[in-house]
Amino acid sequence: MDRIRIRGGAPLNGLIPISGAKNAALPLMIASLLTEDTLELGNVPRLADISSLLRIMSNFGVDHSIAGRRPGQSSETGQTIRVTAKSIIDTCAPYELVSTMRASFWVIAPLVARFGHAKVSMPGGCAIGTRPVDLLIMALAKLGAAIEIEGGYVVATAPKGLHGAEIDFPKVTVGGTHVALMAATLAQGTTVIRNAAREPEVADLAACLIKMGAKIQGAGTSEIVVEGVSSLYGASHDVMPDRIETGTYAMAVAMTGGDLVLENTRAEYLQAALDVLGQAGAEVSSTHSGIRIRRNGNGIQAVDVTTDPFPGFPTDLQAQFMALMTRANGTSRIRETIFENRFMHVQELARLGAHIRLDGDSAYVDGVPTLKGAPVMATDLRASVSLVIAGLVAEGETTINRVYHLDRGFEALEAKLARCGAEIERVRG
Ligand code: EPU
Repeated sequence: MDRIRIRGGAPLNGLIPISGAKNAALPLMIASLLTEDTLELGNVPRLADISSLLRIMSNFGVDHSIAGRRPGQSSETGQTIRVTAKSIIDTCAPYELVSTMRASFWVIAPLVARFGHAKVSMPGGCAIGTRPVDLLIMALAKLGAAIEIEGGYVVATAPKGLHGAEIDFPKVTVGGTHVALMAATLAQGTTVIRNAAREPEVADLAACLIKMGAKIQGAGTSEIVVEGVSSLYGASHDVMPDRIETGTYAMAVAMTGGDLVLENTRAEYLQAALDVLGQAGAEVSSTHSGIRIRRNGNGIQAVDVTTDPFPGFPTDLQAQFMALMTRANGTSRIRETIFENRFMHVQELARLGAHIRLDGDSAYVDGVPTLKGAPVMATDLRASVSLVIAGLVAEGETTINRVYHLDRGFEALEAKLARCGAEIERVRG
């Protein structure tokens, strides 16, 4: 297995192009199942999760092609994928495939909406809590699908099609909102989704669905209204920038010091996180094509943070922020309210010399003047990259094992950081 080796201490200076968002690309690819026409997606990141989903969809009989690289495009320029779900031969997503990636469970929505039948294994994915799918199932049931659970599979049937419904989510769920939104586009009548997730990835999915002929209002707010249509057609859509990748590199330069321009991204997608970085002592400004983050000389101040659904501070940046706080002046309280078990990075950060105490949903981080390099291992995607951030300032060498987690969600991580001065390399296993 590959490892990442980092020698800490170098500041980050230069420019990092931000990739298309994994968490927008996945539901967009799944939305292609709603039509027999071709959906063309641009700015799709080159990530293991994207390839896994293409594999799962190929199993259904979906055709895809990946456009060749054009002159001037590098391996970090997003790719253009054309997906055509014309002749579907199978509406079953098996355990072996779904267990590797939770988002693949969402195929259940377009499959039952368009074909009246779907059998999808209960999901796997990052080990960050129990992560049930009860609310996704509730939404499909409200839309008229009959649901049965058989041997670890969810079987959804709606031989006469879905119908519009009022869906009130008792808690904000991104996946639940994606599922309800996709299914409602082909349901007969009007659907109202209340307490919908306001994450920009939901708005990006809705924007693409509207190009495909769906009638949707209010995406990006907590109430979405969908007027069902009888069929959708092909479209072309560019995946939005990855706000979590943006925030990760912003935290990295706040940690190392230096001056980074993060290109092809937008501050409004992660304003809560940028505000916190400002309070911690980084200088944040918007440029015409992205965000500039600087930290020169001054230390990092401790700031308390609570994760929340968008527009709050994202849970997907909690581990990275904790890495930053390990070097702050003072004690920071970091509260995780989205996932009950998303503190696996704590013990690994401790191996680098961090002082962190856990108490229920909170981590108390006492800043220390130095971290020291060590071999570490991460158990999920965002936890892995928090160790990279810590390794960038740790004295000596840090080796991060189980790099496949990083490959699921960060395109060309070592290349992007190395070009800005980091001493980082991949050691092939
Ligand atoms: N929940 C339920 N029942 C459900 C669905 C969710 O209780 O049926 C709970 C979850 O257990 C969790 C909370 O609701 O406590 C929120 O979960 P949500 O459904 O919003 O999460 P998700 O859709 O499974 C997406 C991202 C995650 C991100 C969360 C929260 C993708 C592919 N995944 O997951 O991203 O952390 O939203 O913003 O979009 C990552 O990229 O590393 C990642 C884990």
